[in-house]
Amino acid sequence: MAGIKVEFRQSGKTLEWEDRFENLLEFAEANDIPLESNCQQGFCGTCKTRLISGKVEMERTDGLEAEDIEESKILVCVSVPVTDVVLEA
Ligand code: FES
Repeated sequence: MAGIKVEFRQSGKTLEWEDRFENLLEFAEANDIPLESNCQQGFCGTCKTRLISGKVEMERTDGLEAEDIEESKILVCVSVPVTDVVLEA
């Protein structure tokens, strides 16, 4: 969706989301924000990142443990923002 802001807290960057990206991992990489990833399909959990505020749509949650969900972690490789979001990365 247009007009959605994505803040990467540790990187100190706030960017406007672009629908041409499939997920937040791709978006971050395109903007020189280094995030760790491996499977890029929501299975391995390597890319989990804490969602400080806002909402995302996550295609798959296999890579998350119950405690990750309690800590508001998301899998950026399968997530797109649906509201303005703040990520810890
Ligand atoms: S890179 Fe494997 S779950 Fe995201």
